[in-house]
Amino acid sequence: MVENSLSSASITRDLETRFVGQRVIYYPSLTSTMEVAKREAARRGAAEGTVILADEQTAGKGRLERVWLSPRGNIALSVILYPSLSYLPSLIMLASLAVVHSIEAATGLKSQIKWPNDVLIDGRKVCGILIESNVQGSTVKYAIIGIGINVNLRLADFPEILPIATSLSDELGRDVSRLGVIRCLLVEIERLYLALSAGGSIYQEWRDSLVTLGRRVRVKTGQATYEGVAESVARDGSLLLRGLDGSLTRIVAGDVTLRE
Ligand code: BTN
Repeated sequence: MVENSLSSASITRDLETRFVGQRVIYYPSLTSTMEVAKREAARRGAAEGTVILADEQTAGKGRLERVWLSPRGNIALSVILYPSLSYLPSLIMLASLAVVHSIEAATGLKSQIKWPNDVLIDGRKVCGILIESNVQGSTVKYAIIGIGINVNLRLADFPEILPIATSLSDELGRDVSRLGVIRCLLVEIERLYLALSAGGSIYQEWRDSLVTLGRRVRVKTGQATYEGVAESVARDGSLLLRGLDGSLTRIVAGDVTLRE
């Protein structure tokens, strides 16, 4: 049986980062780590890299106003950052790459990214990422990266997501240490964040990790549904979709379904 109890101390102890994860606020149960992270950032000006971590969320938030299922055994955390406006759009790339790297480092499993930032193993979603920011003029007041990873989740117990989701334990046939995954993840987030803030680019690696490019897709945005081939991604992270009529549409945010 894998030791799976989480605590702030078990994460921060000897963590090889300068600031990401040096402060962890842990809750056994919480509505959503996003809400607490936003409050910490807005009202109290929490130190950069502060992590809000919950064993279980009772009102987990997904992208596009969806609910995120977040039972005990999974990872649910939010990281508070204060990036500059120039690399705010790259946080989407940063978060998904950090998840791919840390899943591989902690378990050996290979995963891919479905635009913009779902992480999949063999076509099934293992991780969702939500980024919320507060920008006033050209100043980023804060950005919160929320990451939910299905770790020790028996998908057979959740028929509503069984066809589209997977978990690390279902993939490996054994329980996985959440602590190991979280610690790798925080180190990776900081490494990529420092690279970005030093003017580096992670665009090419993110682009190379996308399963979406060249595929026939349906993309739902708040306003419309588009069909076509995912032709490319721009440096700001937007998707360039070649429609069936030959037109090219730039999509900034949306939900992609991969077609056969
Ligand atoms: C998605 O794929 O729709 C994004 C899911 C994001 C879930 C994470 S879990 C930690 C953080 N807290 C939340 O309420 N949501 C994000």
